[in-house]
Amino acid sequence: MAVFRSLLLLFVVVFSTITVDCVSPTPVIKAAYWPSWASDFPPSAIDTTLFTHIFYAFLMPNSITFKFEVSKSEAILLSNFTSTLHHKNPPVKTILSIGGGGADPDVFARMAANASSRRAFINSAIKIARKFGFDGLDLDWEFPTNPKEMNDLGYLFEEWRFAINKIAKTKNHPPLLLTSAVNAAIDFFLFDVYRTYPAASIRKNLDWINVMCFDYRGSWDTTVTGAHAALFDPKSNVSTSYGVGSWIKAGVPREKMVMGLPLYGRTWKLEKPGLHGIGAHAIGVGPGEEGVMTFSQVKDFNRKNKATVVYDSVTVSMYSYVGTSWIGYDDAISVTIKIGFGRAQGLTGYFFWAVNGDKDWRISRQGNHHSSSLHTK
Ligand SMILES: *[C@@H]1O[C@H](CO)[C@@H](O)[C@H](O)[C@H]1NC(C)=O
Ligand SMILES: *[C@@H]1O[C@H](CO)[C@@H](O)[C@H](O)[C@H]1NC(C)=O
Ligand SMILES: *[C@@H]1O[C@H](CO)[C@@H](O)[C@H](O)[C@H]1NC(C)=O
Repeated sequence: MAVFRSLLLLFVVVFSTITVDCVSPTPVIKAAYWPSWASDFPPSAIDTTLFTHIFYAFLMPNSITFKFEVSKSEAILLSNFTSTLHHKNPPVKTILSIGGGGADPDVFARMAANASSRRAFINSAIKIARKFGFDGLDLDWEFPTNPKEMNDLGYLFEEWRFAINKIAKTKNHPPLLLTSAVNAAIDFFLFDVYRTYPAASIRKNLDWINVMCFDYRGSWDTTVTGAHAALFDPKSNVSTSYGVGSWIKAGVPREKMVMGLPLYGRTWKLEKPGLHGIGAHAIGVGPGEEGVMTFSQVKDFNRKNKATVVYDSVTVSMYSYVGTSWIGYDDAISVTIKIGFGRAQGLTGYFFWAVNGDKDWRISRQGNHHSSSLHTK
C-alpha cells in the first residue's frame, strides 16, 4: 500500500512537472525594484527565495553629456547591491534601472533625439553595468511625451540591443538583459497628446517590458476615491486587464510581458465619513506621505485605527476606511488573483514596486504558493 502510494505520488509529481513545463515554457520572472534610498532596507534584507531578478532603482545620466558619473557613495551602493544579491542563497539576477518616476523625462527626450547622444548614453550605460557586475539594464522613462519621442525610443532600443550584443561577442560574455518599465496601456493620452509605444522595436530588441499596472488614480485627482491598480474597471479603460490586452493586441509577445504589482496603497480624505465606497467623494489626500503608504504601513494603520477593511471583487482590490481616511491597496488575496490572471494570459511573470513595502513577505510569497501548488506538493 505504502509502495503503491509513493509510486502514485511519484507519478503525480512527474506528470504535474511536465504539465507545468507546458503551461510556462519560459522561466517565470518574479522581480522587484529596490529603492537605493531605502537606508533601513539594505539588499541583504531581501529574501531571495521569493525572486528571480532585483532591479536597482535608479541611476540618471548627466543631463548634458548623457554619460553616467557615479559618485563615491553611489559606487558603494551599486557594488554592495550586486555582490550581496549574487552571493545570497539562492542568488538572484541584478538589473540596473535608469530613470524612474521622479527623473526629468526631458533628459531622455533630448538624449534619444540624436544618434550621437544615444551612442554616448548607450556606451556609458553598458560600461557602468559591466563595471558593477549587473546582469542587465532597464530604462524607466516616464514618459515619452509625443509620437516623435516614441519613435526615438524605438531607435534607442535598436541601437542599445546592437551595442550589447556586439560587446558581449567581443568580450565573450552572455549579453546583458535589456528591459523597460512602460505605461499600463501601449497607447495613451497625457496632457491631451496621444502616443503609442514602438511595439516592433520592443518585440525585437527587449528581453521584456515591466508593465506598470498601478497609479491609475492618485493625489493628482483628489475629488474621488479609486482603486489605483484595478484589475478590471467596467466604466473605463484605465485598468490592468485593458492595459495588458492593449500590448497583446499590438503584437508584443506575452512571454515578453511582466505585470506590475504595487506593494503600496494610495489614500484619500473622504468628504463624508458615511460615504466610503470606491468612487466616493473626496476632498484631498489621506494618511501617508503625499497620499502614499506602503502595504506594511497600511496594515499597521488599519490595526491601530481599527479601520474597516473591504475586498472589492469588481476591481480586485482592497480598501479600508476609518473616519475620513480612505486607503486603496492590494493584499495577498488580490495579488494572488492578479498573478493568476497574468498566468492565464500567458505573461512571463510579475514585478513589485517596491521590495521594501511588504509586511513579513506576505504578498511577495503569493507567487511561490501559486506555482508550487501546481506541483501538488
Ligand atoms: C553591504 O553593506 C552591508 C551594510 O548595509 C554590509 O553589512 C555588507 O557587508 C556589505 N556587503 C558587501 C558584499 O559589500
Ligand atoms: C547631437 O548631440 C551632440 C552631442 O550632444 C551635439 O554635439 C550635436 O550638435 C547634436 N546634433 C544635433 C543635430 O542636434
Ligand atoms: C475602450 O477602448 C475601446 C477600444 O480599445 C473603445 O472602443 C472603447 O470606447 C473604450 N471605452 C472607454 C470607456 O473609453
